[in-house]
Amino acid sequence: MRKNIVAGNWKMNKTLQEGIELVKELKDVLAADKPNCDVVVCTPFIHLASVATILEVSNIGVGAENCADKVSGAYTGEVSAAMVASTGAKYVILGHSERRAYYGETAEILKEKVNLALANDLTPIFCIGEVLAEREAEKQNEVVYAQLAESLFDLPAEEFSKLVLAYEPVWAIGTGKTATSQQAQDMHAYIRSVVAEKYGKEVADNTSILYGGSCNPSNAKELFGCPDVDGGLIGGAALKVADFKGVIDGFKA
Ligand code: PGA
Repeated sequence: MRKNIVAGNWKMNKTLQEGIELVKELKDVLAADKPNCDVVVCTPFIHLASVATILEVSNIGVGAENCADKVSGAYTGEVSAAMVASTGAKYVILGHSERRAYYGETAEILKEKVNLALANDLTPIFCIGEVLAEREAEKQNEVVYAQLAESLFDLPAEEFSKLVLAYEPVWAIGTGKTATSQQAQDMHAYIRSVVAEKYGKEVADNTSILYGGSCNPSNAKELFGCPDVDGGLIGGAALKVADFKGVIDGFKA
């Protein structure tokens, strides 16, 4: 059966020293009180090697927030999937709405990134979600369908099965405006039905679909209680151990 996962997305926050402090504290806290789900921290590139070393013997996974759409070579400032994997990281967030909106990442570029991540044994956490105007026009399902189809649906089932999906309504990211658990459940069930149509029920049932967008300790339990919500991709609340732990505890009785 699919895994429950809480993944932190630090975005462009924390110096190296601050990041190291955070994961040391998190490691201790989660060793003392074991989580009921998989826990991952996705950090800026420069933190990865240090964080992966600290978390090597722990119950916490490590991921990047992005990787390049090229294998290697003259791409100044880029970081390849192979480089990410060489740090010990096992995950990579791809298709985050901030990458799509601010850095022009198209469906085609994301397709390349997904392929390279998979080729390097990284688990992509692939983000999809509509902006407010699309939600208001009731176009959220078609937007999300297109995002899935355009970047992922050329994958064979065996490769698709390695992905984690994250539904992040853009209007809920960093805004304090969380989707209601009903809105989240409806969309997650829709996503699962689309995956089932394309890859069959077994693949769909085994795909973890995370919710992201202003998820915090006070709403995590209700969101994670939805049958098709398999955890969260957490921005702001991942920057303090107490908050992140509070979200992780959304999976506790
Ligand atoms: P947020 O960000 O939790 O700060 O809304 C979530 C995300 O963008 O992954």
